[in-house]
Amino acid sequence: MSNPSFIIVAIDGGAASGKSSTSRILADQFNLLHVDTGSFYRHITAELLRRQVPYTDLPALKNALGSLRFTTQLAGRSAQMLIDGLPAGDEIRDQRVNEHVSHYAAIPEVRQTLLAYQRGQVEVAQAHQFRGLVMEGRDIGSVIFPAADFRFFLHADPVERAKRRAAEGRQDSIAERDRLDSSRKTSPLKSSAGAIDIDSTHQSLEQVVAAMAATIATKLSPV
Ligand code: C5P
Repeated sequence: MSNPSFIIVAIDGGAASGKSSTSRILADQFNLLHVDTGSFYRHITAELLRRQVPYTDLPALKNALGSLRFTTQLAGRSAQMLIDGLPAGDEIRDQRVNEHVSHYAAIPEVRQTLLAYQRGQVEVAQAHQFRGLVMEGRDIGSVIFPAADFRFFLHADPVERAKRRAAEGRQDSIAERDRLDSSRKTSPLKSSAGAIDIDSTHQSLEQVVAAMAATIATKLSPV
């Protein structure tokens, strides 16, 4: 097998569908940069809430977005987005951010602000000698990297997903976020043509990762 110089793996799916667990393991197995774009939307949301900029006030929102400076630092194999030099705090996983993030993420200006930054993770990965990147989110295979080498879409029954969050000891607005994310006009959550759909409801994490890894291994051997 001839290894390509750099591969892009896109993983999309609803809230708590297993994107983060699978993409972290795949990043380790193939030495890829792991990019959790949900954490970017959460970080922007926490920052806008801190600045008291409501998602309903578009002029104030545009103004605030224009003043934010985005850079990246690595935490192991994961890319962390810094806003004005600062990493996200634990509050990005709190219920306040859970309840607001999909409202901010539905605004085209917010998505546009993050678009180039997300694509720029390719240069970050290359600068750090990764063999590629695995990026998780809602619109990675449909909008950010439609020509990615592999595009996966993870499905799981809502009851199973709620159980997974509860097992992590976290409260979340899974159904409401999925409803908002799927119904927005700009870059809605949906499986795009040509994506590999995986239903993890009755599969263990190991089984799902094994299926994805076997597919990726057709192009790139594990490290
Ligand atoms: O992945 P996570 O559940 O942490 O994402 C939080 C929220 O960020 C999602 O509910 C969605 O509103 C938004 N998001 C998005 N597009 C992405 C990643 C996340 O709209 N690519």
